[in-house]
Amino acid sequence: METDSRKESLADSPGLIESGNLPRHIAIIMDGNGRWAHRKGLSRAEGHREGVKVLKPIVKECSAIGIDVLTVYAFSTENWARPQGEIDALMALLVEFLRSETAELKSQGVRIQTIGNVAGLPAGAQAALAAATQETASQTRMVLNLALNYGGRDELVRAVNRWLDENRPLDQETCLTAHAVASHLDTAGLPDPDLLIRSSGEMRISNFLLWQLAYAEIYVTETLWPDFDPVELHKAIFAYQQRVRRFGGLRE
Ligand code: IPE
Ligand code: IPE
Ligand code: MG
Repeated sequence: METDSRKESLADSPGLIESGNLPRHIAIIMDGNGRWAHRKGLSRAEGHREGVKVLKPIVKECSAIGIDVLTVYAFSTENWARPQGEIDALMALLVEFLRSETAELKSQGVRIQTIGNVAGLPAGAQAALAAATQETASQTRMVLNLALNYGGRDELVRAVNRWLDENRPLDQETCLTAHAVASHLDTAGLPDPDLLIRSSGEMRISNFLLWQLAYAEIYVTETLWPDFDPVELHKAIFAYQQRVRRFGGLRE
C-alpha cells in the first residue's frame, strides 16, 4: 500500500483514524435510496441516481486511506422482485456509472471486480462490466468489488456445485472442507470483510456475504445512502477501531 498518500488523507481527517488498525476489507449495504427519494417527493429512480453519485467519493476515500477491498451491495438476487421500471433504471445507472467512472477509478489504482451471478444480468450490463473489469485488471491499489445479482445463498449453492463438478465422481473419502467452500465462492482470494456498514438503519444482512461476514464488525447508521459521505465513512471506521475483536477467543 502507498503509505504516504494514506497518511496525507488521514491528516485531512478529524485525526480519529489510526492508520495501523484499518479494516482491510469494508463491505457496504447501500440501502435507503427509495426512502430518501420518498422524503423529497422524487421517484425511486431519482433516489438511485443520487445513491450512485455517493459511490464515487466513498471509493476515492477508501482508496486514499489504504483500504484493500471495498465490496458494495448494488443489486441482490431478491431485487428482481421490484417493478421492472425500477430494475431497468438500476441497470441503466450501472452502465452509466461504469462508462463515466472507469477511467478515473483506474487512475486511482482501483481494480473493478464483481461477485454474484453476472450471467443473469442484462446483456448491456454484462458488456459494460466486462469492459470495466478488463480495463482495470492490472490495478493493484484497491479492489472495488460490485455485488450484482448477488445473494449469499445463491453464491454458496453455486460454490458447492462448482466443487462437485470438479470432484465428480465422488469417492467415499472425498469431503467438502471449509477451505474448499471459501475457495469456490465468488470472493475466492479476497480477505473476509472486517467491517460491514449498512445505511438506513435496517438491522439485517439481507442475504449479503453469509459465509464471509462470520466475524465482521457490524456498523449500522440511520443515514440514508444518498446522504452518506466520507465523514460518515470515517465515523464507521472510527467505531470499528474501538471494537475488541475476539474471534471466539479471550480478550488479551
Ligand atoms: C438500496 O436502496 C438500493 C437497492 C436495493 C438497489 P433501496 O431501493 O432498497 O431503498 P429503500 O430501502 O427502499 O429506502
Ligand atoms: C439490500 O437492500 C440490497 C441492496 C442494497 C442491493 P434491500 O433494500 O433489498 O434489502 P431489504 O429488502 O430491506 O432486506
Ligand atoms: Mg432497501
